[in-house]
Amino acid sequence: MEVISSVDEMRAIAAKAHADGKKIGLVPTMGALHAGHLSLIARARQERDFVVVSIFVNPTQFGPKEDYHRYPRSLEADSRKCENAEVDVVFAPLAVDMYPGGFDTWVEVKGPAEVLEGQSRPGHFQGVATVCAKLFNIVRADRAYFGKKDYQQLTVIRKMVDDLNMNVEVVAVDTMRERDGLALSSRNSYLDKREREAALVLSSSLETARKVYESGERNTKAIQTRVWNIIAAEPLAQVEYVVVVDAETLTPVETIERPVAVLLAVRIGSTRLIDNTVIGE
Ligand code: PAJ
Repeated sequence: MEVISSVDEMRAIAAKAHADGKKIGLVPTMGALHAGHLSLIARARQERDFVVVSIFVNPTQFGPKEDYHRYPRSLEADSRKCENAEVDVVFAPLAVDMYPGGFDTWVEVKGPAEVLEGQSRPGHFQGVATVCAKLFNIVRADRAYFGKKDYQQLTVIRKMVDDLNMNVEVVAVDTMRERDGLALSSRNSYLDKREREAALVLSSSLETARKVYESGERNTKAIQTRVWNIIAAEPLAQVEYVVVVDAETLTPVETIERPVAVLLAVRIGSTRLIDNTVIGE
């Protein structure tokens, strides 16, 4: 396995892999790799001849008051995990090489990028879309793997690829959870013991949403209220949003007739966590 920081070198390796007739799979990450990331990598390994994992804490997707500087960085441990997962190349570029002086081009998705995380975190999806477009161009992957954990991100990337006719197939991978239900996230490392327990309201409230649906409820407002009340009952939790939206377009729905996504963002102490589930599939 090679660990590469040079953009030019990555391009050259990708060009060679292409020339050799290899199918390239890309797993974009910000590092601090956990079993959720590894499930994306395993899927790519199963399906592709050549697997590239990018590790880049992308500055343009963090707001000025967000955790860019505090975000966990562990390239050595991450590289070992990638090596064990039989990754071909770890691409870990420097911010100055991805965004050199004079960088002036941005990808701005509207529609699904304008709501929820897009509202809470202005500029976030512009940063995500731009870096993913750059990674797709550099690595020339024909499949890129994204987690359903970041459901809105997945939707935004799909829209970008579709709208801009990008030559990459987006593969969605199920959310990996701890035994007790908490979705794996690099940000879980910010939680202390009490907060870790409180964070269970995210997955448990989504579980209730699913049960309420299964018992026949089709009114989204009723489901949203149930979820909201469960989270509100946890003293350490503060709800930012709970919505039940069309699973494809993320637009509001009143009565469930097609699959919907229940999306939530909750602050546990000072840590902001997101989770979701799709119901009615
Ligand atoms: P990051 O948070 O490191 O996540 C990288 C990928 O891992 C994303 O596609 C995310 O959805 C997926 N992932 C995270 N936790 C997961 C879990 N518990 N189960 C399954 N998949 C999980 O998302 C980003 O980085 C960045 O925004 C990025 C796309 C790399 C652009 O900078």
